[in-house]
Amino acid sequence: MEFNIPLYAGIHKGQRRWLAEMIVRAGRTDFTQRAEVEWLMNQLDLFLAHHREHAELEQRFVHPRLSLIVPGGARAIEEEHEEHHEMLKDMIHSLDRIKGIPPDHPTLPLIGQDFYLALNRFVASYLMHIDYEESYVQNVLLNDSTAEEIMDIFQQILAAQPATSLRDNLTLMLAAMNVPEAVGLLTMAKGKLPQALYDDLTARAAQFIGPQRWTEIQAALGNH
Ligand SMILES: [Fe+2]
Repeated sequence: MEFNIPLYAGIHKGQRRWLAEMIVRAGRTDFTQRAEVEWLMNQLDLFLAHHREHAELEQRFVHPRLSLIVPGGARAIEEEHEEHHEMLKDMIHSLDRIKGIPPDHPTLPLIGQDFYLALNRFVASYLMHIDYEESYVQNVLLNDSTAEEIMDIFQQILAAQPATSLRDNLTLMLAAMNVPEAVGLLTMAKGKLPQALYDDLTARAAQFIGPQRWTEIQAALGNH
């Protein structure tokens, strides 16, 4: 193809980073410590809210095009979105129950280990889902669409997001990208976003990414 507009690549990198961090933190969680369980629960709550919006954007703007090219081609993906919502809700419910177990209960560490396995099963399933979208759906869309049609989908996805969601999604993406990709994303954002939202994005991203990496990105952006 002459053009390449990655509809999925940036945000999926951000999601992989987020889920990888959750797995690492869950692995070292002492389930007798309420604050550590609260951290996991909060992260899963945030991921569930993020995933609802993310799946909705795909279903509203990407899947109509996919279904036109491959009749019924979006059905299994949308069923998986529902399944992933249910898995996330089940894990949050489980953590809520775990918080109510006395810290000295003898089976609490075993229940914590089983939660850890459930989280990893979810992540395994989710990684396969986004891999299918990026390695198959994206190619189908690009092969049977003009650059204008793909750009139109991309613009609709940008326009449909509330400002705070767009800022948070771009922050997730920036934290997971290499420096040239981050420079490209920030350059695009500066051209398209209102100045106040761009300033909000860079302030938040700097804090989220950390000073060392942010300085590298800024230096590359300055040289751009
Ligand atoms: Fe999806």
